[in-house]
Amino acid sequence: MAGRIPPPLPHVAALEAYTPGTQPAGAGWIKLNTNENPCPPAPEVAAAIREAAGDALRLYPEPRSAALRAALARHHDLAEENVLAVNGSDEALALLVRAYTGPGAPVGYLDPSYSLYPVLARAAATPQVTVPCPVDFSLPVEAVAVAACRLFFLTSPHAPSGRGFSRASLAAVAASFSGLLVVDEAYADFADEDAVALLDRHPNLVVVRTFSKGRSLAGLRVGYVLAAAEVIGVLDRIRDSYNLDRLAQAGALAALGAEAHHARCVAEVKATREWLTGQLAERGWETVPSQANFVFTTPRDGEGRSGAEVARGLFEWLESRKVLVRHFPRHPLTASGLRITVGTRREMDRLLEEIDSWPNRAKQP
Ligand SMILES: Cc1ncc(COP(=O)(O)O)c(C=O)c1O
Repeated sequence: MAGRIPPPLPHVAALEAYTPGTQPAGAGWIKLNTNENPCPPAPEVAAAIREAAGDALRLYPEPRSAALRAALARHHDLAEENVLAVNGSDEALALLVRAYTGPGAPVGYLDPSYSLYPVLARAAATPQVTVPCPVDFSLPVEAVAVAACRLFFLTSPHAPSGRGFSRASLAAVAASFSGLLVVDEAYADFADEDAVALLDRHPNLVVVRTFSKGRSLAGLRVGYVLAAAEVIGVLDRIRDSYNLDRLAQAGALAALGAEAHHARCVAEVKATREWLTGQLAERGWETVPSQANFVFTTPRDGEGRSGAEVARGLFEWLESRKVLVRHFPRHPLTASGLRITVGTRREMDRLLEEIDSWPNRAKQP
């Protein structure tokens, strides 16, 4: 008799997968739905990848991503033992859940925030503790500090609102929370403040960063963790031994060296973000002040109405015009808004043109 496929464990059988933003096939789309960077990667990146893509691909990569770790340590003025390079920051989040949480050790996060956190928790059969975001998406310092969990994911700047949290408020949480505080700084390149300088005073603080947003390398899958040597040692033990391939190590190293390019791209995105926020305000739309490379705005129709139906209507209109943004209808704090990635000025002009031609924007006679 042929062997049978056994069922997965019950918590895996019940698991609903993370839903990534659509990556549309075909040309002509304006992609403002997954917070990628509109600037191209630094030219040095392709050159470094081409060089790494020769005969050396026969050989396994350097297992510790040692050169990249050393460069990241220099970049952040930390020791190499405080740095781990990972295959996209999503890998770091998964490793942290695997290492520090489980059936008796809950994971916490702000609700709403990055929708991967609950998926990782469910995949590890880990109970979840959610701390509700206030309506203005400010940081509920006290509530996070007393959250009954082993590890807390704090997205800073916050997603999907874009709101930035001050270093002082992050320090206050780190000082009073009794577990591991993981500050997910996917968007920190575009923010005024971050938590890196707090690492030496708060051993329970873990900072997770990515090359996907600020360095325009979402396709390369490189992220990193900054933390106490003890935490890095734990994550190092459970990661895949070759978690970063040769191309990713070479490309990331080149990107890290291209400081002028990085500064120029970040400045451009920030300037466009402020301009877009102003344009939306001129239309009477409220937008959360953003410290990220996206804005969260509440659309209004021609009668001045807002709400989940208005947001859904505009989302569908834009999609029909081949402009992709993100709508999160399941949460009361996000249902009336749209999250829009900051693209090029040209893409933003097209976005506004399509918004202005939305039939529901016309005043009813
Ligand atoms: C808050 C947050 N953390 C992490 C990630 C994942 O980044 P990476 O591409 O490095 O896996 C994202 C991606 O959108 C994000 O929004």
